[in-house]
Amino acid sequence: MKIKKLFIANWKMNHGIAETLKFITQLQRMVLPTEKTEVVLCPPFTSLYTVSVALDGSEVSWGAQNCSEEEKGAFTGEVSAVFLAELACRYVIIGHSERRQHFQESDQLIAKKIERVLQCHMTPVLCVGETERQRSENQTFAILKKQLLEILNSIIKSKPENLVIAYEPIWAIGTGRTATAEQAQEVHAFIRAFLAEKLGHDFSNNVRLVYGGSVHAKNVKSLVNQPDINGVLVGSASLDADSLNEILHQMSD
Ligand code: PGA
Repeated sequence: MKIKKLFIANWKMNHGIAETLKFITQLQRMVLPTEKTEVVLCPPFTSLYTVSVALDGSEVSWGAQNCSEEEKGAFTGEVSAVFLAELACRYVIIGHSERRQHFQESDQLIAKKIERVLQCHMTPVLCVGETERQRSENQTFAILKKQLLEILNSIIKSKPENLVIAYEPIWAIGTGRTATAEQAQEVHAFIRAFLAEKLGHDFSNNVRLVYGGSVHAKNVKSLVNQPDINGVLVGSASLDADSLNEILHQMSD
């Protein structure tokens, strides 16, 4: 198991270039506990170049929130993983529930995107998670299995060690209703056991499993103290540099 915890900031459609620069200037004045935590900023595409220049040589890395499943060509408005690699992105978030919900991304499409990210030597952050209704109907594990199966089939030969899976219960995203540490641990343990069953223990022990959904400075510690929670994916609480810094210190204590 990798030792450093992972902190991924998902800015969604927030922070254009001016705000990104302001954020980074604030960040550069802070002492981030990067010896204990790997920090990744995922700004909108249009801020990536700015981030890549401003953070070049620093301990903080960056990633994108999505990419095309295609390599290049006549796909108006799409962004190739090749271009993201060119911007020195280390991570690409794939299959976020907002993309599944608003852009009809299917498990098949998500599996193709994951392969594309891996081909470009970046780390995919695959997002999975159930709705409130699915949880209340005891469907959580069945939904997760379905979301994972397609992807596992496509990586069964390569078994990429760098895969990250983010468990993000949809009912906890942007709602202020975080899963309890026990609820999150239960699901993470299930995911790890499922990965072991399909691709073996060596693989499953190397995959980093992060939790996302209303994470903030007050709840992060109990989450990352769980044995199968290797980090967090943070949306709104990562938009402010002070809040991000506080979360990092809480999780690194
Ligand atoms: P949130 O978003 O932290 O604002 O709930 C998390 C996410 O959607 O990745």
